[in-house]
Amino acid sequence: MKSAVILVSGRGSNMRAIVEARTGLEVKAVIANRPDAPALPWAVERGLATRVVDHREFATRDAFDERLALEIERLRPDLLLLAGFMRILGEAFIGRFAGRMVNIHPSLLPAFPGLRTHRRALEAGVKLHGATVHMVTAALDGGPIVAQGAVPVLAGDTEESLAARVLEVEHRIYPQAVRWFVEDRIESNGRDVVQVRGTGASHDWIVSPRNAE
Ligand code: GRF
Repeated sequence: MKSAVILVSGRGSNMRAIVEARTGLEVKAVIANRPDAPALPWAVERGLATRVVDHREFATRDAFDERLALEIERLRPDLLLLAGFMRILGEAFIGRFAGRMVNIHPSLLPAFPGLRTHRRALEAGVKLHGATVHMVTAALDGGPIVAQGAVPVLAGDTEESLAARVLEVEHRIYPQAVRWFVEDRIESNGRDVVQVRGTGASHDWIVSPRNAE
């Protein structure tokens, strides 16, 4: 069985999707960098262990990273899943968890790394947008891609309507990627292109949302 620690900062809908998908993953703990993260009460209710490492209590980014790393290492997870974790982690931290740290980003990377991806997609006039599950490396939103899901950008879309359509895809591809890890089907050294072993695994997974007619 594979185990994971899930890092969150906010509402935690991706965390919920992963937990509810029953992938066989053992969630050792949910760790938030904000004590008021709405993800925490949900995790507690589900009987999951939770921790808070509040970034505001640390004088430097490195001191925060160090404490977070210690909390995680104590739990000895196979995977570290970032699910709406809104802190940039330093190179030393990333090095410690290289090859087992995974993130979900709300764009079809390498397009639109960073913030406000939906607004930037609308401004750029792209016709397809989506989400990417990727390994975390020191390059911001630049690590090897594990899974992607695409949705159409529709006439009249707002940042909110596009975000909602993409979020639906996030909730499908993140649990799917976790399942591949649990089944030991991911070949990744954390640096090069990720291969998924076996059938039914696609890197370019076009998902048609219900409201795309
Ligand atoms: C998601 O859009 C995710 O892709 C991004 O932050 C958002 C987090 O949402 N990294 P949630 O906390 O999982 O609901």
